[in-house]
Amino acid sequence: MQVAIDMGAQQNGARVSIDLEELLATRLLVQGNSGSGKSHLLRRLIEQSTKWVQQIVIDPEGDFVSLSERYGHLVVDAERSDSDLEEIGRRVRQHRVSAVLNLESVDLETQMRCAGAFLNGLFDVPRDHWYPVLVVVDEAQLFAPAAAGDVTEEARKIALGAMANLMSRGRKRGLAGVIATQRLAKLAKNVAAEASNFLMGRTFLDIDMARAADLLGMERRQAETFRDLQRGSFVALGPALSRRALTVHIDTVETGAKSVSAKLIPMPQEAVEDIQDVIFAPVVQERAAASSRTTSTTDLLRQLAQTRIATEADVEVGPEAAEIDTAAREAALEDALRAVVADPESAFRSIAVLYQDFVMRCRIQAVPGEPLDLPEFRRRIAIARAGVPVATKQQGAEWDAAVALSAQLTEDLQGLFLTLARAAMDQIPCPGDLQLARVCGSRSPGRARRLLTYMEEKGFLTLQSDRRGNRIVAFPDLGWQTQPGRPDAAEPAETLPMGF
Ligand SMILES: Nc1ncnc2c1ncn2[C@@H]1O[C@H](COP(=O)(O)OP(=O)(O)OP(=O)(O)O)[C@@H](O)[C@H]1O
Ligand SMILES: [Mg+2]
Repeated sequence: MQVAIDMGAQQNGARVSIDLEELLATRLLVQGNSGSGKSHLLRRLIEQSTKWVQQIVIDPEGDFVSLSERYGHLVVDAERSDSDLEEIGRRVRQHRVSAVLNLESVDLETQMRCAGAFLNGLFDVPRDHWYPVLVVVDEAQLFAPAAAGDVTEEARKIALGAMANLMSRGRKRGLAGVIATQRLAKLAKNVAAEASNFLMGRTFLDIDMARAADLLGMERRQAETFRDLQRGSFVALGPALSRRALTVHIDTVETGAKSVSAKLIPMPQEAVEDIQDVIFAPVVQERAAASSRTTSTTDLLRQLAQTRIATEADVEVGPEAAEIDTAAREAALEDALRAVVADPESAFRSIAVLYQDFVMRCRIQAVPGEPLDLPEFRRRIAIARAGVPVATKQQGAEWDAAVALSAQLTEDLQGLFLTLARAAMDQIPCPGDLQLARVCGSRSPGRARRLLTYMEEKGFLTLQSDRRGNRIVAFPDLGWQTQPGRPDAAEPAETLPMGF
């Protein structure tokens, strides 16, 4: 039996619905200018189908977070590493949890990377978990842009690849793409072309109208009618909607239309609270660990060959033994921290993976005593990234003051703060956005800028520009300031942190 998702009515009062099973097989494209009612339409579809099918919403504006209160969707915030998001995507799929990926708080480049990673996670689950899922992507032109924009080619490739996968190869894996865009002309053609169902809302630009007419197989003249559509009205066409074009006015949101299905598999009954622990359990995933092992195997083997295993003869005895051990231990810990940070990719790995690497290095180097615990490791790695070994205290009391100040910040900001403080102490130019982003484990210059502004708002530093637009960061509490530096400076070829 069919599941008909009631969407609204035609002018003559006839109801218009979407055949859910057909939709899962044939996908949907929604287009309409800003304010035409696309997000409202998506919300109606999600609300009406929530009990029938798992739903994933890729939400650039945070519009759909409210679904969580009423319908229990799990909200996944984007402030995570790509590998974490990919793993969370996999788990969400495996546990059949409806979820909203909220990308509101990150910049476009990061949005693209996050959406790409998350979609890849959804895609990449074993065949046993290929249950049907509606994957709703609002503002799809952001993730599948027709042309290169301001973002890096890498981010564009990740997002575009994931969107193309979703819309083409997704069907076999149970993923049904529902994508909405303001501007059809801005959406990659190969992504748009994979949808067989269309809901076309108010459209003003000729170029969008022409693309819409092409997709729907209409005369361009006929598509002119899209100009006159009211907010909330859409021309519907496609196997899951109607065999001939008809105009539907989308009904209100948060109303229930119940239908019965024999074929669709019922959704699991667990409460979202129960499943949260499973989905958000620390992501020390085997894959990341395995890849970190693979990348550093050569290094580790080389070190193993060079390392002298501590023997009993090496153990000092006598009154000064304890003190010597502490000093040796500190030096060895510094060495291990430095080795972890020296890997250019380390900035982009999760702290859990870095910690594993660190613990392994400590074992290989036979560092006496227990390795650092995780919180202490976080703190030390932030300091190591700034390039000043904490234990040797070479820099004296001045640097200690900077480290003490940094401790008032959350751990993710300490490295950034100390990198800037170090530049100010050494009176060198303020590093560029890209270099600062790397310190925060990101490739997004926008993220670095946001964090700088945040630290300024909190009174940790002040940002100034000289007449040429160079940035100067001053530290009122320390009495230091950097030399002017270009915010858009390329990353230095030497990727090791300063001081090593
Ligand atoms: N069918 C409808 N019935 C009642 N209100 C509607 C309907 N469609 C849209 N609206 C209202 O119109 C406004 C704009 O709609 P919506 O946010 O869905 O537009 P949009 O196409 O997603 O715009 P944008 O591209 O800027 O995100 C909202 O306040 C929404 O509640
Ligand atoms: Mg919208």
